[in-house]
Amino acid sequence: MSAPSWPLPPHLPQPDRAATARSRMLRERVLSEIARDGFLPFTRFMELALYAPGLGYYASGAPKLGSVGDFVTAPEITASFGAALAAQLAELIAAGCEDIVELGAGNGTLATDILNELERRDCLPRRYDILEVSAAMAKRQRATLQAGVPHLLDRVRWIARLPERIRGVVLGNEVLDAMPAALVAHRDGELVELGVARVSPDSDELAWTSRPASGEVLRAAQALRLPQDYTTELHLAARGLVRALGEALEHGVVLLLDYGFAHHEYYHPQRNRGTLMCHYRHYAHDDPLALIGLQDISVHVDFSALADAARESGLKVLGYATQAHFLIDCGILERLATIPVEETVRYTKAAAGVQKLLSPAEMGELFKTIAFGRGVAGPLLGFRSGDRRAAL
Ligand SMILES: C[S@@+](CC[C@H](N)C(=O)[O-])C[C@H]1O[C@@H](n2cnc3c(N)ncnc32)[C@H](O)[C@@H]1O
Repeated sequence: MSAPSWPLPPHLPQPDRAATARSRMLRERVLSEIARDGFLPFTRFMELALYAPGLGYYASGAPKLGSVGDFVTAPEITASFGAALAAQLAELIAAGCEDIVELGAGNGTLATDILNELERRDCLPRRYDILEVSAAMAKRQRATLQAGVPHLLDRVRWIARLPERIRGVVLGNEVLDAMPAALVAHRDGELVELGVARVSPDSDELAWTSRPASGEVLRAAQALRLPQDYTTELHLAARGLVRALGEALEHGVVLLLDYGFAHHEYYHPQRNRGTLMCHYRHYAHDDPLALIGLQDISVHVDFSALADAARESGLKVLGYATQAHFLIDCGILERLATIPVEETVRYTKAAAGVQKLLSPAEMGELFKTIAFGRGVAGPLLGFRSGDRRAAL
C-alpha cells in the first residue's frame, strides 16, 4: 500500500498503515464527490478532509494537539491561559451568566483548567456544555476532565448542536480557524472560486482547479474589491456560526479567541496568497491536497466579518483586543507572580508558557480575542486597557 501522495520531508514520520488506509478511503470519498460534476469546491474539500465521519482529520482518534500531535494551542502551552480566561468568566458568572458553552474543546484541557480555577474562586458555572463535532475529540475531552476534575464532571455535558436558547457565556478557542472556508481568486479580471478536480480523467491524483464564482461566494468576493492576481479566503461557515450564536443568545456573551486580523489587514494587497496553512507533526506548509485526513488545515480569521455577522443578528461587539492585552487585563501576570521563584522548575515552565502567549513575536499579537453580547454592559475585564474595536 503506498503512502499518501506527497513527498514528506525526510525528517517527518511516515503515517502508519492504518492512517494510510484511512487517507486512501477519504481520497476515494473526495473522488466520488468530484465525479458528480468534475469540481469540488475547496470549502467542501476542507469539510471532508477535517470532518468526514470516521475518516476526517478530527474524526480519527490520533492525537492532534500538543507535542505528540500536529500543532499546539494555547491551553496546551500553559494552564495560565485557562486561569486567565476564568477570571473573565468569573466576572460574567457573577453578573448572572451562569452557564458556559464551549465550542470545539480540543483535548478538554481548557475546560479542565477553567473549571479548576472557577472552583478555586468559588464561582463555578451551573453547567459547562461542550459542543464538539468530532466524537473522537469528545472521548478525549471526557478522559481529560475525568482525570483533572472528576468531582465536577456532573456539571459537564456534551451536546450535539447549539442549544436553541443560551443564557450564559459561549467560549471558543481556535475553533473558527478550523471551519471550512471558500477560496477565491481575482484573475484576468474575473472572480473565480477554487476547488479540487482529478489531474486527468484516468488519474486518482488531485489538482487545483477553478470556476467562475457564483451565488453567495460571488457576492462575498465582490464585496472585498480584491486587487488583480489575488487569492484569499471567505469565511462563510464561520460567519454562519456567529449568526447562529446571535440567534440563540438570549442573554450573555460570546467570547472567541483565534489568530487573524481585522478586514483591512486581512485583505491587504500584499497578502495576495491568502492565509491557508496545514500542519503535520508540527511541520507547517501550504498544500491541503497532501496527506488528506492526516493533517490539520486552517485559515486565519477575518474578525471584521465576524463583527458584521454578530451585529446582523442583533449582538453588540463588546471588545476586540490582542491576546496579549486580553490575558494581561485578565491578570495572567499577577497569577504568574504567585508562583514562588524558588520553585525554579515550576516557575520557569510557567513563565516560558506565558511568554509564548504574550510575546508579539509568537502568539501575543497575531491572536485576538473578540466578544459579542446581548443584555450585558461592558467594559469587560479583558478589554479594559487594550480594546481595539475601532480597527474592525
Ligand atoms: C484547532 S482545534 C481547537 C481545540 C481547542 N479549543 C484548543 O484550544 O485546544 C478545533 C476544534 O474545533 C472543533 N470544531 C470545528 N468546527 C466546529 C463547530 N462548528 N462547532 C464546534 N466545534 C467545532 C474541532 O472538532 C476541534 O475540536
